Amino acid sequence: MERTFAIIKPDAVERNLIGKILERIESKGFRIVAMKRTKLTLEQVEGFYHVHKERPFFKDLTTYMATGGPVVLLALEKGNAIASWRELMGATNPKDAAAGTIRKDFAVDIEKNSVHGSDSPENAAFELSYFFSLTEIQP
Ligand code: CMP
Repeated sequence: MERTFAIIKPDAVERNLIGKILERIESKGFRIVAMKRTKLTLEQVEGFYHVHKERPFFKDLTTYMATGGPVVLLALEKGNAIASWRELMGATNPKDAAAGTIRKDFAVDIEKNSVHGSDSPENAAFELSYFFSLTEIQP
């Protein structure tokens, strides 16, 4: 079993897509082991995306995630969860995303791309602990 961290981003929450996205997650065999709907502060988002600090899109990304509306934070569990969730999300840019992926079907553009997922075991551990305490994650 592996755990990964996911976000349903403001563009998807705003368009009432929480249920549709959770349905895809559960249908693929993931267990949702923690979940919260919340609005992130700019400080929280900047800390979360610190690896992108030097990227040209950092300011736009953090502004969008903090002021675009509420998000849903998720801890997901499954064998090979990190790669499996990335496959289900599709490529970062919806233009490059494969048919049947969440981003292909729902994302607006490369920034408002509906979902986030950890890209490595190290980042999954950091991201899960950034938003969830140990006792909030219940297998
Ligand atoms: P996410 O998987 O959450 O990781 C970083 C986010 O930055 C990405 O999804 C997009 O929402 C956003 N982003 C905006 N522009 C780019 C870009 N050119 N390359 C990668 N990510 C981008």
